[in-house]
Amino acid sequence: MKALVLSGGAGTRLRPITHTSAKQLVPVANTPVLFYGLKAIADAGVTEVGIIVGDTAAEIREAVGDGSAFGLDITYIPQAAPLGLAHAVLIARDYLGDEDFVMYLGDNFIVGGITDLVERFRAERPAAQIMLTKVADPTSFGVAVLDGDGRVVGLEEKPAKPKSDLALVGVYLFTPAIHEAVRAVKPSGRGELEITDAIQWLIDDGRDVHSTTISGYWKDTGNVTDMLEVNRLVLETVEPVVEGSVDEESELIGRVRVEAGARITGSRIVGPAIIGRDCVVKGAYVGPFTAIADHCRIEDCEIEYSIVLSGSSLTGVRRIEASLIGHDVEVTPAPRSPSSHRLVLGDHSKVQISS
Ligand code: DAU
Repeated sequence: MKALVLSGGAGTRLRPITHTSAKQLVPVANTPVLFYGLKAIADAGVTEVGIIVGDTAAEIREAVGDGSAFGLDITYIPQAAPLGLAHAVLIARDYLGDEDFVMYLGDNFIVGGITDLVERFRAERPAAQIMLTKVADPTSFGVAVLDGDGRVVGLEEKPAKPKSDLALVGVYLFTPAIHEAVRAVKPSGRGELEITDAIQWLIDDGRDVHSTTISGYWKDTGNVTDMLEVNRLVLETVEPVVEGSVDEESELIGRVRVEAGARITGSRIVGPAIIGRDCVVKGAYVGPFTAIADHCRIEDCEIEYSIVLSGSSLTGVRRIEASLIGHDVEVTPAPRSPSSHRLVLGDHSKVQISS
């Protein structure tokens, strides 16, 4: 069995963070979301992985390399334009050959991995096996309808009037039967070759499509609240370790991870929290569920329940909560007089100021 990981496309939903970086590299607890998927694939015993890449190919290649860090053998498959998930299968035909494969959407996060799912597929070997989860707003997902016995009878991509609340999760298992289906479907209303339509084609053709319903699932929806929540969930499992330095005036409470080269002085950090490599945390309070990426400076600040991406510096501000701060951002206090906010914000930024 092989794996096909989709990391092409252009990220627009987590703007402004994805104006400048691939959405599959958005970090959850300081680790790109794509890495959790690659680890789940390796844990399921699949080692040959094709990664579909688009505009952000260079960034993805730099982050993942040849895959040896994950115990994987990776082949990059360039996609000229994001023409749809079924299009990705179409262009991976030669790579996939006649093997079964797991298709994993690189921006999806699944709590608990995919090992059980892969084992079930290996045992039953239906033409396709999909994963479903209940969501509050199914209109931004593929939606499945099951019959009384739990068989998948119908699928629709992003329906305006969903027939159920069961959304397709971004992990699919296929036999080579899918290749005929992706060749048969036509572009959808949004101009993409939809994998949802290809699976519907299999159902219409009388093939078996099985489903599993799961609960621990996150997918970027442009919703920072969701991102903070999944960050919280993963931080709960972080192993506490101090690889950097912590001076005597500092206090670490609970699950706190201080990466190599980080220097904590005169600060209080209440876990679960991660302080990335080569960060400086000085005279600061870092509260629970906070992930500070590498090379950040947090000085004379209070921050809690937030994500800070690499290279940012927060000095002399309190108190930051429930925030997502991008790469190389600077937050400083305004001069005392005149009393005003001074902002330089990128396109699509969102700021809430308490005053
Ligand atoms: O996440 C689950 C949903 O993913 C499913 O419920 C939908 O049925 C399915 O169509 C898909 O919907 P999205 O519209 O959210 O897919 P998105 O465009 O975000 O693409 C998913 C991943 O695949 C993302 O990492 C980008 C990558 N991709 C996407 C396209 C369209 C490619 O590599 N190539 C592409 O052509």
